[in-house]
Amino acid sequence: MTHPVCFVGGGPGAADLLTLRAAERIRQADVLIWTDSLVCPQITALAPDHCERIRTSTLTLEEVIPLLIDRQRQGAKVVRLHDGDTAFYSAINEQICALNDADIPVEVVPGVSAYQAAAAGLSSELTIPGVVQTIVLGRAGGRTGVPPSEELDRLAGLGASLCLYLSARHIDDVQATLQRHYPDDTPVAIAYRVSWPDEWMSVVPLAQMAAASKERQLIRTTLYIISPALNGGQQRSRLYSPDHDHLFRQRH
Ligand SMILES: C[S@@+](CC[C@H](N)C(=O)[O-])C[C@H]1O[C@@H](n2cnc3c(N)ncnc32)[C@H](O)[C@@H]1O
Repeated sequence: MTHPVCFVGGGPGAADLLTLRAAERIRQADVLIWTDSLVCPQITALAPDHCERIRTSTLTLEEVIPLLIDRQRQGAKVVRLHDGDTAFYSAINEQICALNDADIPVEVVPGVSAYQAAAAGLSSELTIPGVVQTIVLGRAGGRTGVPPSEELDRLAGLGASLCLYLSARHIDDVQATLQRHYPDDTPVAIAYRVSWPDEWMSVVPLAQMAAASKERQLIRTTLYIISPALNGGQQRSRLYSPDHDHLFRQRH
């Protein structure tokens, strides 16, 4: 019997933030191939004793793909584990394309992303009526680069709740760009290793974003949320307003 190669979003770190499906796939894995630089050891500890464990931080795509193909063809339940959610910055696309070329089926199991865990950790909602209604998930260009239409300058121009991944190394440029669009006192959540045992989170004014990051020497596994919503606006949602009727509730 053959099984699809299963790409699992491992969530931000804590094992109890895995989806039930993700936890089940890991618990049943014969082979676990994971991004050891970003996945918390609590998650990989769920794999059974017999499971073959392969870390990818020192491997290239050209080395990972033959492993996935070989183990799947041997009939193993192969789990390719990534951090957070699989839908972005997870590099699953190139792996799925290679498996498609080899006629190997895949399954994808989503995960909780770092921005969701950070907002929850701050007991915050990132959309508040009358204040901000859009969340942008983005990154500073860095070595990978972004298409010109998605430069940080343009993303920041929206004034939305902006969640920046993979951007700590460029923090001086990031802050300078953001200050062209957001007021200096806009709250910025700095979230390091959210839900890991050594999690650190702080909310600082935008003008102190770079200094606060450098003080803690944050380079990796850091997420920024720049958002007027973090000021805790008082406006309520229309959804629960007595004068707002909808399919399940008459107007009061
Ligand atoms: C390669 S990207 C993967 C993001 C992943 N797909 C997600 O949904 O969270 C890795 C980046 O995600 C962010 N990140 C992932 N896990 C995090 C965590 N536990 N705490 C803070 N940031 C995290 C950091 O910006 C890190 O550099």
